[in-house]
Amino acid sequence: MERVSVGILGCGNVGAALVQLIGRRGPEIAARTGLDLTVARVAVRSVARERSVHLPDGVLTHDAFDVVRDPGIDVVVEVIGGIEPARELIVTALNAGKPVVTANKELLANVGADLFAAAEGAGVDLLFEAAVGGGIPIIRPLRESLVGEKVDRVIGIVNGTTNYILTRMTEDGVTYQEALAEAQNLGYAERDPTADVEGYDAGAKAAIVATIAFGAKVVAGDVYHEGIAGITPADISYASRLGYVVKLLAIAEQEEGQIGTRVHPAMVPTDHPLASVRGSHNAIFVEGDAVGELMFYGRGAGGDPTASAVLGDLIDAAGNLRKGYSASLGSLAKATIRPIDEIQTAYYLNLEVIDQPGVLAAVAGVFGAHGVSIKAMEQEGLGDEARLIFITHLAREAAMQATLRDLRELDVVDRVGTLLRVIGEI
Ligand SMILES: NC(=O)c1ccc[n+]([C@@H]2O[C@H](COP(=O)([O-])OP(=O)(O)OC[C@H]3O[C@@H](n4cnc5c(N)ncnc54)[C@H](OP(=O)(O)O)[C@@H]3O)[C@@H](O)[C@H]2O)c1
Repeated sequence: MERVSVGILGCGNVGAALVQLIGRRGPEIAARTGLDLTVARVAVRSVARERSVHLPDGVLTHDAFDVVRDPGIDVVVEVIGGIEPARELIVTALNAGKPVVTANKELLANVGADLFAAAEGAGVDLLFEAAVGGGIPIIRPLRESLVGEKVDRVIGIVNGTTNYILTRMTEDGVTYQEALAEAQNLGYAERDPTADVEGYDAGAKAAIVATIAFGAKVVAGDVYHEGIAGITPADISYASRLGYVVKLLAIAEQEEGQIGTRVHPAMVPTDHPLASVRGSHNAIFVEGDAVGELMFYGRGAGGDPTASAVLGDLIDAAGNLRKGYSASLGSLAKATIRPIDEIQTAYYLNLEVIDQPGVLAAVAGVFGAHGVSIKAMEQEGLGDEARLIFITHLAREAAMQATLRDLRELDVVDRVGTLLRVIGEI
Protein backbone atom coordinates (compact mmCIF):
# COMPACT_ATOMS: atom_id res chain seq x y z
CA MET A 1 0.00 0.00 0.00
CA GLU A 2 1.39 3.39 -0.97
CA ARG A 3 0.27 6.52 0.87
CA VAL A 4 -0.48 9.43 -1.47
CA SER A 5 -0.73 12.82 0.25
CA VAL A 6 -3.22 15.00 -1.57
CA GLY A 7 -3.28 18.80 -1.29
CA ILE A 8 -6.64 20.29 -2.29
CA LEU A 9 -6.83 23.98 -3.17
CA GLY A 10 -10.44 25.10 -2.57
CA CYS A 11 -13.19 23.46 -0.51
CA GLY A 12 -16.35 24.84 -2.13
CA ASN A 13 -18.91 22.83 -4.17
CA VAL A 14 -16.33 20.61 -5.84
CA GLY A 15 -13.59 20.54 -3.18
CA ALA A 16 -15.98 19.57 -0.37
CA ALA A 17 -17.64 16.88 -2.54
CA LEU A 18 -14.18 15.51 -3.38
CA VAL A 19 -13.17 15.28 0.30
CA GLN A 20 -16.39 13.32 0.97
CA LEU A 21 -15.97 11.08 -2.06
CA ILE A 22 -12.37 10.19 -1.11
CA GLY A 23 -13.69 9.33 2.38
CA ARG A 24 -16.43 7.09 0.95
CA ARG A 25 -14.44 5.41 -1.81
CA GLY A 26 -10.95 5.39 -0.22
CA PRO A 27 -10.87 1.81 1.09
CA GLU A 28 -12.07 0.32 -2.21
CA ILE A 29 -9.67 2.48 -4.24
CA ALA A 30 -6.84 1.31 -1.98
CA ALA A 31 -7.85 -2.32 -2.40
CA ARG A 32 -8.02 -2.03 -6.19
CA THR A 33 -5.05 0.21 -6.88
CA GLY A 34 -2.75 -0.05 -3.86
CA LEU A 35 -3.01 3.75 -3.48
CA ASP A 36 -4.02 5.10 -0.08
CA LEU A 37 -5.32 8.59 -0.95
CA THR A 38 -5.01 10.84 2.09
CA VAL A 39 -6.35 14.40 2.13
CA ALA A 40 -3.34 15.92 3.89
CA ARG A 41 -3.96 19.66 3.41
CA VAL A 42 -6.86 21.80 2.16
CA ALA A 43 -6.48 25.49 1.31
CA VAL A 44 -9.44 27.89 1.51
CA ARG A 45 -9.96 31.63 1.54
CA SER A 46 -11.54 31.69 5.00
CA VAL A 47 -10.44 29.10 7.58
CA ALA A 48 -13.08 30.35 10.05
CA ARG A 49 -15.99 29.61 7.70
CA GLU A 50 -18.26 26.69 8.64
CA ARG A 51 -17.79 23.71 6.26
CA SER A 52 -20.10 20.89 5.23
CA VAL A 53 -17.17 18.45 5.58
CA HIS A 54 -15.24 17.49 8.67
CA LEU A 55 -11.48 17.89 8.38
CA PRO A 56 -8.99 16.90 11.11
CA ASP A 57 -7.27 19.75 12.98
CA GLY A 58 -4.35 21.24 11.08
CA VAL A 59 -5.57 20.20 7.60
CA LEU A 60 -7.21 23.54 6.69
CA THR A 61 -5.02 26.48 5.82
CA HIS A 62 -5.54 29.85 4.16
CA ASP A 63 -2.12 29.66 2.48
CA ALA A 64 -2.49 27.78 -0.82
CA PHE A 65 1.16 28.46 -1.78
CA ASP A 66 2.30 26.75 1.41
CA VAL A 67 0.37 23.64 0.26
CA VAL A 68 1.87 23.50 -3.26
CA ARG A 69 5.39 24.04 -1.86
CA ASP A 70 4.98 21.48 0.94
CA PRO A 71 7.43 18.62 0.21
CA GLY A 72 5.05 16.24 1.98
CA ILE A 73 2.32 16.80 -0.66
CA ASP A 74 2.47 14.36 -3.59
CA VAL A 75 -0.45 15.48 -5.80
CA VAL A 76 -2.29 18.83 -5.99
CA VAL A 77 -5.98 19.35 -6.87
CA GLU A 78 -6.92 22.91 -7.90
CA VAL A 79 -10.63 23.66 -7.41
CA ILE A 80 -10.45 27.38 -6.60
CA GLY A 81 -11.42 28.62 -10.08
CA GLY A 82 -10.51 31.83 -11.97
CA ILE A 83 -7.14 32.79 -13.48
CA GLU A 84 -5.03 34.05 -10.54
CA PRO A 85 -3.85 32.77 -8.15
CA ALA A 86 -4.89 29.41 -9.69
CA ARG A 87 -2.38 29.75 -12.58
CA GLU A 88 0.58 30.59 -10.39
CA LEU A 89 -0.33 27.86 -7.90
CA ILE A 90 -0.50 25.22 -10.65
CA VAL A 91 2.80 26.30 -12.23
CA THR A 92 4.49 26.28 -8.80
CA ALA A 93 3.19 22.76 -8.11
CA LEU A 94 4.24 21.44 -11.54
CA ASN A 95 7.70 23.00 -11.25
CA ALA A 96 8.05 21.27 -7.89
CA GLY A 97 7.39 17.94 -9.66
CA LYS A 98 3.85 17.50 -8.37
CA PRO A 99 1.10 16.30 -10.73
CA VAL A 100 -1.94 18.60 -10.80
CA VAL A 101 -5.63 17.87 -11.33
CA THR A 102 -7.84 20.86 -12.11
CA ALA A 103 -11.50 21.53 -12.96
CA ASN A 104 -10.75 25.09 -14.06
CA LYS A 105 -12.14 25.64 -17.58
CA GLU A 106 -11.60 29.41 -17.52
CA LEU A 107 -7.90 28.99 -16.82
CA LEU A 108 -7.34 26.20 -19.37
CA ALA A 109 -9.26 28.04 -22.09
CA ASN A 110 -7.04 31.11 -21.66
CA VAL A 111 -3.54 29.89 -20.78
CA GLY A 112 -3.88 26.11 -21.19
CA ALA A 113 -0.98 25.79 -23.65
CA ASP A 114 1.46 27.40 -21.15
CA LEU A 115 0.29 25.03 -18.42
CA PHE A 116 0.55 21.95 -20.69
CA ALA A 117 4.11 23.03 -21.57
CA ALA A 118 4.97 23.45 -17.86
CA ALA A 119 3.64 19.93 -17.13
CA GLU A 120 5.53 18.49 -20.10
CA GLY A 121 8.73 20.25 -18.98
CA ALA A 122 8.38 18.90 -15.44
CA GLY A 123 7.45 15.41 -16.68
CA VAL A 124 4.30 15.21 -14.53
CA ASP A 125 0.56 15.03 -15.22
CA LEU A 126 -1.80 17.95 -15.65
CA LEU A 127 -5.25 16.35 -15.87
CA PHE A 128 -8.56 18.20 -16.30
CA GLU A 129 -11.43 15.82 -17.07
CA ALA A 130 -13.86 17.89 -14.93
CA ALA A 131 -13.22 21.12 -16.87
CA VAL A 132 -15.61 20.07 -19.69
CA GLY A 133 -18.93 18.35 -19.08
CA GLY A 134 -18.51 17.96 -15.27
CA GLY A 135 -18.93 14.25 -14.55
CA ILE A 136 -19.04 13.21 -18.24
CA PRO A 137 -15.84 11.54 -19.46
CA ILE A 138 -14.91 13.42 -22.65
CA ILE A 139 -11.33 14.65 -22.28
CA ARG A 140 -9.83 11.20 -21.69
CA PRO A 141 -11.81 9.61 -24.57
CA LEU A 142 -10.65 12.41 -26.89
CA ARG A 143 -7.02 12.32 -25.81
CA GLU A 144 -6.64 8.54 -25.46
CA SER A 145 -9.36 6.41 -27.08
CA LEU A 146 -9.75 8.71 -30.10
CA VAL A 147 -6.12 9.80 -30.48
CA GLY A 148 -5.86 7.88 -33.78
CA GLU A 149 -9.16 9.20 -35.08
CA LYS A 150 -9.62 12.07 -37.51
CA VAL A 151 -12.22 13.99 -35.53
CA ASP A 152 -14.28 16.19 -37.87
CA ARG A 153 -16.64 17.86 -35.47
CA VAL A 154 -17.61 17.96 -31.81
CA ILE A 155 -21.01 19.40 -30.91
CA GLY A 156 -21.82 19.86 -27.25
CA ILE A 157 -24.64 20.89 -25.00
CA VAL A 158 -22.18 21.89 -22.29
CA ASN A 159 -24.06 24.45 -20.22
CA GLY A 160 -26.77 23.08 -17.96
CA THR A 161 -28.27 26.48 -17.10
CA THR A 162 -29.11 27.40 -20.68
CA ASN A 163 -30.30 23.89 -21.50
CA TYR A 164 -32.63 24.05 -18.49
CA ILE A 165 -34.01 27.43 -19.65
CA LEU A 166 -34.54 26.28 -23.25
CA THR A 167 -36.14 23.01 -22.10
CA ARG A 168 -38.65 24.93 -19.93
CA MET A 169 -39.42 27.27 -22.85
CA THR A 170 -39.92 24.29 -25.18
CA GLU A 171 -41.92 22.00 -22.94
CA ASP A 172 -43.95 24.51 -20.91
CA GLY A 173 -44.19 27.56 -23.17
CA VAL A 174 -42.71 29.98 -20.61
CA THR A 175 -40.73 33.07 -21.70
CA TYR A 176 -36.96 33.38 -21.50
CA GLN A 177 -37.26 35.81 -18.53
CA GLU A 178 -39.58 33.48 -16.62
CA ALA A 179 -37.36 30.45 -17.20
CA LEU A 180 -34.24 32.41 -16.19
CA ALA A 181 -35.86 33.62 -12.94
CA GLU A 182 -36.88 30.05 -12.16
CA ALA A 183 -33.34 28.75 -12.85
CA GLN A 184 -31.98 31.43 -10.50
CA ASN A 185 -34.43 30.43 -7.74
CA LEU A 186 -33.42 26.78 -8.11
CA GLY A 187 -29.73 27.69 -7.90
CA TYR A 188 -29.02 26.55 -11.50
CA ALA A 189 -28.25 30.10 -12.62
CA GLU A 190 -26.08 32.75 -10.96
CA ARG A 191 -27.56 36.13 -9.91
CA ASP A 192 -25.44 37.52 -12.75
CA PRO A 193 -26.15 34.91 -15.44
CA THR A 194 -24.02 36.55 -18.18
CA ALA A 195 -21.33 33.83 -18.37
CA ASP A 196 -23.96 31.15 -18.97
CA VAL A 197 -26.63 32.87 -21.08
CA GLU A 198 -24.20 34.79 -23.31
CA GLY A 199 -22.25 31.60 -24.08
CA TYR A 200 -18.90 32.46 -22.40
CA ASP A 201 -18.91 29.34 -20.21
CA ALA A 202 -19.71 27.08 -23.18
CA GLY A 203 -17.11 28.99 -25.24
CA ALA A 204 -14.33 28.14 -22.76
CA LYS A 205 -15.29 24.47 -23.02
CA ALA A 206 -15.37 24.65 -26.84
CA ALA A 207 -11.79 26.02 -26.81
CA ILE A 208 -10.57 23.19 -24.56
CA VAL A 209 -12.32 20.52 -26.64
CA ALA A 210 -10.92 21.96 -29.89
CA THR A 211 -7.41 21.98 -28.41
CA ILE A 212 -7.61 18.30 -27.42
CA ALA A 213 -9.60 17.03 -30.43
CA PHE A 214 -7.47 18.79 -33.07
CA GLY A 215 -4.10 19.04 -31.28
CA ALA A 216 -3.89 22.81 -31.76
CA LYS A 217 -3.75 25.85 -29.49
CA VAL A 218 -7.29 27.22 -29.41
CA VAL A 219 -8.19 29.84 -26.78
CA ALA A 220 -11.47 31.31 -25.51
CA GLY A 221 -10.90 34.46 -27.60
CA ASP A 222 -11.00 32.34 -30.80
CA VAL A 223 -14.58 31.22 -30.12
CA TYR A 224 -17.46 33.09 -31.77
CA HIS A 225 -20.44 33.32 -29.44
CA GLU A 226 -24.08 34.36 -29.34
CA GLY A 227 -26.35 33.86 -26.34
CA ILE A 228 -29.97 32.78 -25.89
CA ALA A 229 -31.56 36.00 -24.56
CA GLY A 230 -33.12 36.81 -27.98
CA ILE A 231 -34.96 33.48 -28.34
CA THR A 232 -38.73 33.99 -28.23
CA PRO A 233 -41.55 31.52 -27.47
CA ALA A 234 -42.58 32.03 -31.15
CA ASP A 235 -39.16 30.79 -32.37
CA ILE A 236 -39.48 27.74 -30.15
CA SER A 237 -42.96 26.94 -31.42
CA TYR A 238 -42.01 27.42 -35.11
CA ALA A 239 -38.99 25.20 -34.54
CA SER A 240 -41.22 22.53 -33.07
CA ARG A 241 -43.73 22.78 -35.94
CA LEU A 242 -40.90 22.35 -38.43
CA GLY A 243 -39.46 19.33 -36.55
CA TYR A 244 -36.68 20.96 -34.52
CA VAL A 245 -35.77 21.91 -30.96
CA VAL A 246 -33.68 24.96 -30.04
CA LYS A 247 -30.45 24.23 -28.12
CA LEU A 248 -27.38 26.29 -27.18
CA LEU A 249 -24.57 24.42 -28.93
CA ALA A 250 -20.80 24.60 -28.58
CA ILE A 251 -19.31 23.51 -31.91
CA ALA A 252 -15.67 22.73 -32.71
CA GLU A 253 -14.92 21.60 -36.25
CA GLN A 254 -11.92 21.14 -38.47
CA GLU A 255 -11.96 21.37 -42.22
CA GLU A 256 -9.20 21.93 -44.75
CA GLY A 257 -6.69 22.68 -41.99
CA GLN A 258 -8.85 25.37 -40.42
CA ILE A 259 -10.53 25.14 -37.03
CA GLY A 260 -13.89 26.76 -36.40
CA THR A 261 -15.25 27.16 -32.87
CA ARG A 262 -18.59 28.75 -32.10
CA VAL A 263 -21.32 28.88 -29.50
CA HIS A 264 -24.83 29.90 -30.49
CA PRO A 265 -28.43 28.79 -30.22
CA ALA A 266 -29.27 26.40 -33.05
CA MET A 267 -32.17 24.36 -34.38
CA VAL A 268 -31.54 20.65 -33.87
CA PRO A 269 -33.70 18.10 -35.75
CA THR A 270 -35.91 16.22 -33.25
CA ASP A 271 -34.44 12.89 -34.40
CA HIS A 272 -30.85 14.01 -33.65
CA PRO A 273 -29.47 12.45 -30.39
CA LEU A 274 -28.75 15.95 -28.97
CA ALA A 275 -32.46 16.87 -29.24
CA SER A 276 -33.28 14.46 -26.42
CA VAL A 277 -30.89 16.10 -23.92
CA ARG A 278 -33.28 17.81 -21.50
CA GLY A 279 -33.10 20.02 -18.43
CA SER A 280 -29.70 20.64 -16.88
CA HIS A 281 -28.13 17.56 -18.49
CA ASN A 282 -25.15 17.87 -20.84
CA ALA A 283 -24.05 15.81 -23.84
CA ILE A 284 -21.15 15.87 -26.25
CA PHE A 285 -21.61 14.47 -29.76
CA VAL A 286 -18.45 13.52 -31.64
CA GLU A 287 -18.26 12.93 -35.41
CA GLY A 288 -15.16 11.03 -36.51
CA ASP A 289 -13.96 9.78 -39.88
CA ALA A 290 -13.57 6.08 -39.03
CA VAL A 291 -15.51 5.81 -35.78
CA GLY A 292 -18.66 7.56 -37.03
CA GLU A 293 -20.90 9.20 -34.43
CA LEU A 294 -20.51 8.96 -30.64
CA MET A 295 -22.43 10.62 -27.84
CA PHE A 296 -21.37 11.15 -24.22
CA TYR A 297 -24.24 12.08 -21.89
CA GLY A 298 -24.66 12.92 -18.21
CA ARG A 299 -24.46 15.53 -15.46
CA GLY A 300 -22.36 18.47 -16.59
CA ALA A 301 -22.11 20.16 -13.19
CA GLY A 302 -22.77 19.73 -9.48
CA GLY A 303 -20.38 18.89 -6.68
CA ASP A 304 -20.66 15.08 -6.78
CA PRO A 305 -20.51 14.48 -10.57
CA THR A 306 -17.61 16.95 -10.89
CA ALA A 307 -15.79 15.40 -7.91
CA SER A 308 -16.19 11.98 -9.57
CA ALA A 309 -14.25 13.21 -12.62
CA VAL A 310 -11.61 14.86 -10.41
CA LEU A 311 -11.19 11.65 -8.40
CA GLY A 312 -10.67 9.60 -11.58
CA ASP A 313 -7.90 12.01 -12.60
CA LEU A 314 -6.42 11.96 -9.10
CA ILE A 315 -6.10 8.15 -9.10
CA ASP A 316 -4.58 8.28 -12.60
CA ALA A 317 -2.09 11.01 -11.63
CA ALA A 318 -1.08 9.20 -8.42
CA GLY A 319 -0.66 5.90 -10.31
CA ASN A 320 1.42 7.59 -13.02
CA LEU A 321 3.60 9.32 -10.42
CA ARG A 322 4.34 5.93 -8.86
CA LYS A 323 5.37 4.58 -12.29
CA GLY A 324 7.41 7.70 -13.12
CA TYR A 325 5.21 8.28 -16.15
CA SER A 326 3.11 11.25 -17.31
CA ALA A 327 0.33 11.51 -19.88
CA SER A 328 1.35 13.85 -22.70
CA LEU A 329 -0.85 15.89 -25.01
CA GLY A 330 1.93 15.78 -27.61
CA SER A 331 2.96 18.93 -29.41
CA LEU A 332 0.19 21.42 -30.03
CA ALA A 333 0.21 23.23 -33.38
CA LYS A 334 -0.63 26.89 -33.87
CA ALA A 335 -4.33 26.95 -34.79
CA THR A 336 -5.56 28.50 -38.03
CA ILE A 337 -8.99 29.80 -37.05
CA ARG A 338 -11.81 29.86 -39.60
CA PRO A 339 -13.62 33.23 -39.32
CA ILE A 340 -17.35 32.94 -38.61
CA ASP A 341 -18.09 34.59 -41.99
CA GLU A 342 -16.67 31.54 -43.76
CA ILE A 343 -18.68 28.79 -42.06
CA GLN A 344 -21.34 26.96 -44.04
CA THR A 345 -24.59 26.01 -42.40
CA ALA A 346 -28.34 26.02 -42.98
CA TYR A 347 -30.43 28.82 -41.44
CA TYR A 348 -33.86 29.50 -39.99
CA LEU A 349 -35.19 33.06 -40.34
CA ASN A 350 -38.54 34.65 -39.52
CA LEU A 351 -39.71 37.92 -41.09
CA GLU A 352 -42.76 40.12 -40.58
CA VAL A 353 -43.87 41.60 -43.91
CA ILE A 354 -46.76 43.61 -45.39
CA ASP A 355 -49.43 41.21 -46.68
CA GLN A 356 -49.75 42.29 -50.33
CA PRO A 357 -49.07 40.80 -53.77
CA GLY A 358 -45.42 40.67 -54.89
CA VAL A 359 -43.91 40.66 -51.39
CA LEU A 360 -42.86 37.03 -51.51
CA ALA A 361 -41.12 37.54 -54.85
CA ALA A 362 -39.25 40.59 -53.52
CA VAL A 363 -38.08 38.72 -50.43
CA ALA A 364 -37.12 35.59 -52.38
CA GLY A 365 -35.21 37.84 -54.78
CA VAL A 366 -32.95 39.07 -51.96
CA PHE A 367 -32.11 35.50 -50.93
CA GLY A 368 -31.40 34.62 -54.57
CA ALA A 369 -29.19 37.68 -55.14
CA HIS A 370 -26.81 36.41 -52.46
CA GLY A 371 -26.93 32.78 -53.61
CA VAL A 372 -28.87 31.62 -50.54
CA SER A 373 -31.20 28.85 -51.61
CA ILE A 374 -34.52 28.36 -49.77
CA LYS A 375 -35.34 24.81 -48.71
CA ALA A 376 -38.72 25.39 -47.04
CA MET A 377 -41.04 28.36 -46.45
CA GLU A 378 -44.20 28.84 -44.40
CA GLN A 379 -46.54 31.81 -44.35
CA GLU A 380 -48.87 32.84 -41.53
CA GLY A 381 -51.39 35.71 -41.60
CA LEU A 382 -51.10 38.43 -38.91
CA GLY A 383 -53.95 40.85 -39.84
CA ASP A 384 -52.52 43.31 -42.38
CA GLU A 385 -49.19 41.62 -42.06
CA ALA A 386 -47.81 38.17 -42.66
CA ARG A 387 -45.04 36.22 -41.01
CA LEU A 388 -42.72 34.31 -43.30
CA ILE A 389 -40.63 31.47 -41.94
CA PHE A 390 -37.67 30.24 -44.00
CA ILE A 391 -35.29 27.30 -43.74
CA THR A 392 -32.38 27.57 -46.16
CA HIS A 393 -30.07 25.02 -47.71
CA LEU A 394 -26.40 25.24 -46.72
CA ALA A 395 -25.11 28.78 -47.21
CA ARG A 396 -22.05 30.79 -46.27
CA GLU A 397 -22.47 32.96 -43.17
CA ALA A 398 -21.27 36.04 -45.06
CA ALA A 399 -23.96 35.49 -47.73
CA MET A 400 -26.66 35.05 -45.08
CA GLN A 401 -25.58 38.21 -43.23
CA ALA A 402 -25.64 40.16 -46.54
CA THR A 403 -29.16 38.78 -47.15
CA LEU A 404 -30.26 40.05 -43.72
CA ARG A 405 -28.82 43.51 -44.38
CA ASP A 406 -30.71 43.80 -47.68
CA LEU A 407 -33.94 42.44 -46.21
CA ARG A 408 -33.84 45.20 -43.56
CA GLU A 409 -33.72 47.75 -46.41
CA LEU A 410 -36.85 46.38 -48.15
CA ASP A 411 -39.95 48.61 -47.65
CA VAL A 412 -42.23 45.57 -47.48
CA VAL A 413 -40.29 44.05 -44.55
CA ASP A 414 -41.49 45.40 -41.18
CA ARG A 415 -39.28 43.32 -38.95
CA VAL A 416 -36.42 40.91 -39.40
CA GLY A 417 -36.83 38.37 -36.58
CA THR A 418 -34.51 35.75 -35.18
CA LEU A 419 -31.81 34.12 -37.31
CA LEU A 420 -30.88 30.65 -36.11
CA ARG A 421 -28.36 28.23 -37.55
CA VAL A 422 -29.72 24.75 -38.26
CA ILE A 423 -27.61 21.63 -37.74
CA GLY A 424 -28.00 18.31 -39.53
CA GLU A 425 -29.12 19.94 -42.84
CA ILE A 426 -27.40 19.47 -46.19
N1 LIG B 1 -19.50 23.63 -9.34
C1 LIG B 1 -19.56 22.88 -10.41
O1 LIG B 1 -20.57 22.22 -10.69
C2 LIG B 1 -18.37 22.79 -11.33
C3 LIG B 1 -18.42 21.94 -12.47
C4 LIG B 1 -17.30 21.84 -13.29
C5 LIG B 1 -16.16 22.59 -13.01
N2 LIG B 1 -16.16 23.42 -11.92
C6 LIG B 1 -14.95 24.21 -11.67
O2 LIG B 1 -14.41 23.84 -10.40
C7 LIG B 1 -13.78 24.96 -9.80
C8 LIG B 1 -14.36 25.16 -8.39
O3 LIG B 1 -15.75 25.42 -8.49
P1 LIG B 1 -16.69 25.45 -7.19
O4 LIG B 1 -18.09 25.49 -7.69
O5 LIG B 1 -16.31 24.39 -6.24
O6 LIG B 1 -16.28 26.89 -6.59
P2 LIG B 1 -16.64 27.49 -5.15
O7 LIG B 1 -17.79 26.73 -4.54
O8 LIG B 1 -16.74 28.96 -5.32
O9 LIG B 1 -15.33 27.16 -4.26
C9 LIG B 1 -14.12 27.82 -4.42
C10 LIG B 1 -13.22 27.46 -3.23
O10 LIG B 1 -11.95 28.07 -3.42
C11 LIG B 1 -11.56 28.71 -2.22
N3 LIG B 1 -10.68 29.84 -2.56
C12 LIG B 1 -10.96 30.96 -3.28
N4 LIG B 1 -9.87 31.73 -3.41
C13 LIG B 1 -8.87 31.09 -2.75
C14 LIG B 1 -7.50 31.38 -2.51
N5 LIG B 1 -6.94 32.50 -2.98
N6 LIG B 1 -6.78 30.50 -1.79
C15 LIG B 1 -7.33 29.36 -1.30
N7 LIG B 1 -8.62 29.03 -1.51
C16 LIG B 1 -9.38 29.88 -2.21
C17 LIG B 1 -12.83 29.15 -1.56
O11 LIG B 1 -12.62 29.32 -0.17
P3 LIG B 1 -13.82 29.71 0.83
O12 LIG B 1 -14.66 28.47 0.94
O13 LIG B 1 -13.13 30.04 2.12
O14 LIG B 1 -14.54 30.86 0.21
C18 LIG B 1 -13.74 27.93 -1.89
O15 LIG B 1 -13.58 26.93 -0.92
C19 LIG B 1 -13.98 26.13 -10.77
O16 LIG B 1 -12.87 26.23 -11.60
C20 LIG B 1 -15.20 25.70 -11.56
O17 LIG B 1 -15.24 26.29 -12.85
C21 LIG B 1 -17.23 23.54 -11.08
